[in-house]
Amino acid sequence: MPDIESLLSEKRVFKPGKDFARAANWSKKDVAALRKDAAKNPTRFWAKMAKENVSFFSPWKKVLDWKPPFAKWFVGSKLNVSYNCIDRHLEGKNAWRRNKAAIIWEGEPGDKRVITYGELHREVCKFANALKALGVKKGDRVCLYMPMVPELAIAMLACTRIGAPHSIVFGGFSADALRDRIADAGAHVVITADGGYRRGAPFALKEAVDAAVSGDSPVESVVVVKRTGQDVTWKAGRDHWWHDLMAEASTKCPPAKLDAEHPLFILYTSGTTGKPKGILHTTAGYLTHVTTTFKAIFDIKDSDTYWCTADIGWITGHSYVIYGPLANGATTLMYEGVPTHPGPDRWWDVIERHRVSIFYTAPTAIRTFIRLGDEHPKSHDLSSLRLLGTVGEPINPEAWMWYHKVIGGKRCPIVDTWWQTETGGIMISPLPGAVDTKPGSGTLPFPGVDAAILDDDGNEVKPPDGGFLAVRQPWPGMLRGIWGDKERFREVYWSKWKRKGTYFAGDGAHRDKGGYFWIMGRVDDVMNVSGHRIGTMEVESALVSHPDVAESAVVGREDEITGTAVVAFVTPKANVLADDGLAKRLRDHVAKEIGAIAKPKDVRFTPALPKTRSGKIMRRLLRDIASGKETAGDTSTLEDFSVLAKLRGDED
Ligand code: WT7
Repeated sequence: MPDIESLLSEKRVFKPGKDFARAANWSKKDVAALRKDAAKNPTRFWAKMAKENVSFFSPWKKVLDWKPPFAKWFVGSKLNVSYNCIDRHLEGKNAWRRNKAAIIWEGEPGDKRVITYGELHREVCKFANALKALGVKKGDRVCLYMPMVPELAIAMLACTRIGAPHSIVFGGFSADALRDRIADAGAHVVITADGGYRRGAPFALKEAVDAAVSGDSPVESVVVVKRTGQDVTWKAGRDHWWHDLMAEASTKCPPAKLDAEHPLFILYTSGTTGKPKGILHTTAGYLTHVTTTFKAIFDIKDSDTYWCTADIGWITGHSYVIYGPLANGATTLMYEGVPTHPGPDRWWDVIERHRVSIFYTAPTAIRTFIRLGDEHPKSHDLSSLRLLGTVGEPINPEAWMWYHKVIGGKRCPIVDTWWQTETGGIMISPLPGAVDTKPGSGTLPFPGVDAAILDDDGNEVKPPDGGFLAVRQPWPGMLRGIWGDKERFREVYWSKWKRKGTYFAGDGAHRDKGGYFWIMGRVDDVMNVSGHRIGTMEVESALVSHPDVAESAVVGREDEITGTAVVAFVTPKANVLADDGLAKRLRDHVAKEIGAIAKPKDVRFTPALPKTRSGKIMRRLLRDIASGKETAGDTSTLEDFSVLAKLRGDED
């Protein structure tokens, strides 16, 4: 693992401030005791967390049923996620929260809405009834393809209220990507909007839905939120305005009493093949995991205003914009647009105006702001902030230090949280009142999480050696499967090592002498672009679906802002002119097939791809070429040496 040496030179240590530590939800003493308990018996620890943080209609009979790789948590219990996120804040000693802001929403043009817990209850009940009126039943999948508007949160919670698993597709994905995800989940209903705002202009969503559900499609109903007022085409009988359905819906809808393992949602994520995986999460375990980690890691208090900048279309938005915060009765801020509209200080302006106290964002955003200049954050009063977080990719120590100084004013702990779509919730992170931090390290696993670094044979490596990040015990928020594909679930996550039930995360990592974890990035053919996962195979299949392309190989190279940039090596078909025009057409084609986030930054044409004698594309070599590094390592199996010269540009 080549990065180990450079990372080890990081010696700076930051202790939690005294006041922060004293008031923390989990003190140093609590954490020490919880870690001890959890190490002895992780199942008992999670049961204790479930009792403390989640409301059940009826109790479980068994905490964990583990037949690797299939886990069932809190077996036999009944509960409802929307009840936990809303109703329980309107009852008993929490009843004062009725008029507390649940969601503070700000649109990109500057429009604002505040939704209290009381209002959220009414809206969610109404939309749950609207879904029922469309024929949605317990277990039916509902697809959500929406901008960052409060109706998205309402729709999610309404789905959970009646036990209809949602499948949220990020609004940046193309019509084709949406069609595939609708088909895979077998959704009969799609919730969308006419459009949303981005970079000062409306973009269209309904148009993409029309294309995605045209022809052969399981979709019977499309619900449309009026957000921008742009023209939309309409299919009577299939399409319904959100406001029309809501006008007729009753505000009474008791929460369904659902089984602990009832499917809560599916979320598609990229893997190493061309086909995205529908990651399945269920009810009781997921809720226990996100509610507990949110309370402990974000140290939430009733006086906080919490802002996670992730789009709800990604797992971070599911777990830490909506479910974690609302289950804790917190105020969660949602912002619709880009960070730099109308100016490069938009985010800092939001923090100042709303007095945001906890702020959670991605390293790629931090690096963008570093480049934009310190004057923008410095022109705002950020003194309301008391805790910062990052997620999505390794944060380089310099970006961490900037975040600490310029945004956090040196007083805010930073929680660098490692987790994945598959893990449901945070797995490795500092506990901000109890754990010293080091720039670039996620520090230690959350209590009850048995993370380890293993070598190829499954043996734990000794610090400071690098290896593969693994989880050796089941945890409540773990994925329960890949939608419709048991074999792939077993194969991708649970087959790397002989020992049964050892989860392979797909990341490389090492620990330092103090036991801290340092994540080094993906070890598989998955790229992490701006904290979003993109499979090289997915981009390759998009490219070869273009009529001018014979073959293609896609790799990542380092990028200062986005972490990784997508580089496509393309062999055009005979007699096709490989020029800038073709490069542009191919980039647009990828945007159409997958979405703009997957667009290759570089397209490099080559008459052939370097392959081993057995025909395997030599990706390591391509990665080196893409990043301009001299080709290292053994290339003796290369089929055609002249290809290498051409790729390097020696013959241009
Ligand atoms: C991959 C998961 C759930 C977070 C949003 C992305 C990388 C995530 C960190 C971190 C280093 C990180 C890993 C992981 N990653 N957080 N704090 N430090 N790397 O979710 O799309 O499922 O991607 O993001 O490579 O495997 P995702």
